[in-house]
Amino acid sequence: MNEITIFGLTKNFGELVAVDHMDLNIPGGTIFGLLGPNGAGKSTTTRLLSTLLQPTDGTARVSEFDIIQEPVRVREITGVLPEESNRTVYPGMTAYENLEYFARLYDVPEEEIPARIEELLTFMDLWDRKDDKAGELSTGNRQRVALCRAILHRPTVLLLDEPTSSLDPLAAKRVRELILELSKKYKQTFLINSHNLPEVQRVCNRIAIIDEGKVLLQGKTQELRSQLLSKQKFRIRIVGDIEKASSIAKSMNFVEAVKEEVDSILVTIEDPTENNSSLMQNMLSQGIKIVEFAEEEATLEDLYLEVVKGGIQK
Ligand SMILES: Nc1ncnc2c1ncn2[C@@H]1O[C@H](COP(=O)(O)OP(=O)(O)O)[C@@H](O)[C@H]1O
Ligand SMILES: [Mg+2]
Repeated sequence: MNEITIFGLTKNFGELVAVDHMDLNIPGGTIFGLLGPNGAGKSTTTRLLSTLLQPTDGTARVSEFDIIQEPVRVREITGVLPEESNRTVYPGMTAYENLEYFARLYDVPEEEIPARIEELLTFMDLWDRKDDKAGELSTGNRQRVALCRAILHRPTVLLLDEPTSSLDPLAAKRVRELILELSKKYKQTFLINSHNLPEVQRVCNRIAIIDEGKVLLQGKTQELRSQLLSKQKFRIRIVGDIEKASSIAKSMNFVEAVKEEVDSILVTIEDPTENNSSLMQNMLSQGIKIVEFAEEEATLEDLYLEVVKGGIQK
């Protein structure tokens, strides 16, 4: 069943169409990645779903609640980590006090508050930091407090807007691990905005690529990647003259593209079962020493670049 359903969702800011008749289905329990360049409309989509903004047209349902008809119910079951999440914790209060304050704001029953805060801070490896002022925590730890804040009221849907964009690689990795652990333990549905492709590839099981407020492509991450594998890119690592190797490859009519790197050339080959050996033979006969001839794993980046720059339409 879909936990988030978006129908023709549109948001105009004056002349600008930030979200343009978007349709999207997000199945319950998935970690869904909304990918797109800056200005694509990711944050606006999150603000619409979290009922901070009113759509110009169309609507969406979070669980069974319509964002226009039942915004209060939507907020009850939704946890949000906004783009500037550092601003969602008070720097002058301790980690614990922040969570206590927000738990009361979210109407978490008073007697449940201490156990709930301990559970979450422990889960995030922050229990020993509970008495540190939020403003004195590292950015990564503050982001984890903001995540605790977002899940205090046990939401079933989490909207995370660029959850790791302000973090150093180590802190970002920890937050990604925590997202995966959260999903495993509490089985929420996640919608994660990101422009960080390797991150999305690691964390999200489904993705949509959007640009100019429109969905360009969506599907299971694995399937989108395997579609790409039909392109058959190979890395040929050689000892010797890269330029010569490259010109040999370019001279063969089944080679579609060649990219040179320091010790390798990257080639896209049509019908590799037939053609790889001719390319190899040709290179060997001209004195190129091949150290490695290996299939390159297709990445989401290839797909993203093709879709966003190439303008493939749905
Ligand atoms: N409150 C606003 N008023 C006017 N324009 C806005 C507002 N919020 C966003 N925009 C514009 O809408 C477009 C989409 O922005 P946004 O949703 O923030 O994109 P993303 O999060 O993908 O970077 C951008 O062109 C942005 O400048
Ligand atoms: Mg944004």
